[in-house]
Amino acid sequence: MAFTGKQVTSRLDADGKLTVELIEREFKDPSGSRVLINVEASPINPSDLGVLFAVADTDNAEYSAGKIVAPMPEAAVRAMASRIGNALPVGNECAGTVVAAGEDPAAQALLGKRVTCVPGGAYATYATCEAAMCMVLDEGVTAEQGASSFVNPMTALGFVETMKAEGFKGIIHAAAASNLGQMLVRICKDDGVPLVNLVRSQVQADLLRGIGATHVIDTTAADFPAQLTAAIDETGAMLGFDPIGGGTTASKMLAAMEASASKGMAWSRYGSSTPKKVYIYGALDTGPTILHRNYGFTWDVAGWLMTPFLAKAGMEVVAQMRQRVMRELTTTFASHYKAQVSLEGMLTREAVSAYNARRTGEKYLVVPNG
Ligand SMILES: NC(=O)c1ccc[n+]([C@@H]2O[C@H](COP(=O)([O-])OP(=O)(O)OC[C@H]3O[C@@H](n4cnc5c(N)ncnc54)[C@H](OP(=O)(O)O)[C@@H]3O)[C@@H](O)[C@H]2O)c1
Repeated sequence: MAFTGKQVTSRLDADGKLTVELIEREFKDPSGSRVLINVEASPINPSDLGVLFAVADTDNAEYSAGKIVAPMPEAAVRAMASRIGNALPVGNECAGTVVAAGEDPAAQALLGKRVTCVPGGAYATYATCEAAMCMVLDEGVTAEQGASSFVNPMTALGFVETMKAEGFKGIIHAAAASNLGQMLVRICKDDGVPLVNLVRSQVQADLLRGIGATHVIDTTAADFPAQLTAAIDETGAMLGFDPIGGGTTASKMLAAMEASASKGMAWSRYGSSTPKKVYIYGALDTGPTILHRNYGFTWDVAGWLMTPFLAKAGMEVVAQMRQRVMRELTTTFASHYKAQVSLEGMLTREAVSAYNARRTGEKYLVVPNG
C-alpha cells in the first residue's frame, strides 16, 4: 500500500532563484530493513536552514501559499553548482510513529512504535529510515520531546569525546547559549568537564548560570580577552568549539589560550609548545574566518562534523552515547521551542523571518499533521 502526503523541498535553479515549496507526493511502502514513519514533530535546526534557504534573501522573496521563491547571491549559486536543479528534501531529524515496515524482523518489530530518527526529508507527512537507525521512545515521551534527540545531543556529547580522545582537559564553547550549548553545559556539569562558555549578552550569561554553568563570559565586555585568559588559567581549557565560523572568534580563543600557556615562560618568537586547537563546527556567520596568528605556531584550526565523528568513534561508543540521550532525553538533552508550525505554516514570511534568525530560545518545531 502506498501512502500519499506532502513534502517540503528546496530547489536552486541556474537563474539564481531558490524555490522552497510544499509538494504532494507518494511515499512507497518500505522494503527490507526500512520503515515508514508518520512524522509527528521535527525541529528546524541551523543545519536544516543551510539546505532550506542557505544564504538566499528571504526578506526579498515572493511568498505564496506553500511556496517561497527567493533570490540567491551569485557567488552562492556558483558555490552550490552541484545542487542546481535538484529538489532536495529537507529536515534532518524527527519523531513519529512507524506505520509500515519492510519484511526484515528488525523493521517489523517497530510497527506501531513511536520512534526518533534521522531520515533526512523530515519536513513531510512521512519519512523513511533504516530500522537500525531508529530509537524507540519510552512510554509517555511525546513526539515534541523526542524530536531533537540526535543532532544536537550527539554533537554535544561528541565534543566531550573529542576532548578526551585528543588529550585536552577542558572546552571553550562559543555561541554557548544555543540549544546545543545548553546541553553541553549540563553534560559538562554532570561529567566534571571544565567548560568556558562564551555568549554575547547578559541575558544569555544569566540563562547559562541558571542551568549550572560556572564560567560564562560575555564577548561584548571590554575586558573579554583578559576574562577568557583567566578562565583558561583556571580550567586548562585549550580546546575550542566555534559554531560562528566567520570573524575572529577562533583567533581570540587561540590568543587567550596562548596568553595563558605562555605565562611565566621566557619570550620566544615561536610561542609556547602547549597544544591549542579550535574546531569550527557551524556557520552562524558566513563571512571569512580571520586568524591573526599572534599566538605562536603550536595551534590547529579544523572543521568538526557530527557524521564523520560518529563514524570514527565506532559502534560501541555511539551506542553508549545514544543510550545516554534516551535516558536523559527530558533533562540533559531537553529542547525547547518558541512555536509549532505546520508544513504550510513554516513557509510563511512571518515564520521564516522568525526561525531563520537563529535567535537564542527561538527554535521552531514542525508538526506536519498539526
Ligand atoms: N557540525 C555539526 O555536526 C553540528 C551539529 C549540530 C549543530 N551544529 C551547529 O551548532 C550551532 C548551534 O545549533 P543550535 O541548534 O543549538 O542553535 P540555536 O539553538 O538555534 O541557537 C543559535 C545560537 O547562536 C547564536 N548566534 C546566531 N548567530 C550568531 C552570530 N553571528 N554570532 C554569535 N552568536 C550567534 C544565537 O544567539 P543570539 O540570540 O544572540 O542571536 C543563539 O544562541 C549551529 O551553528 C549548528 O549549525 C553543528
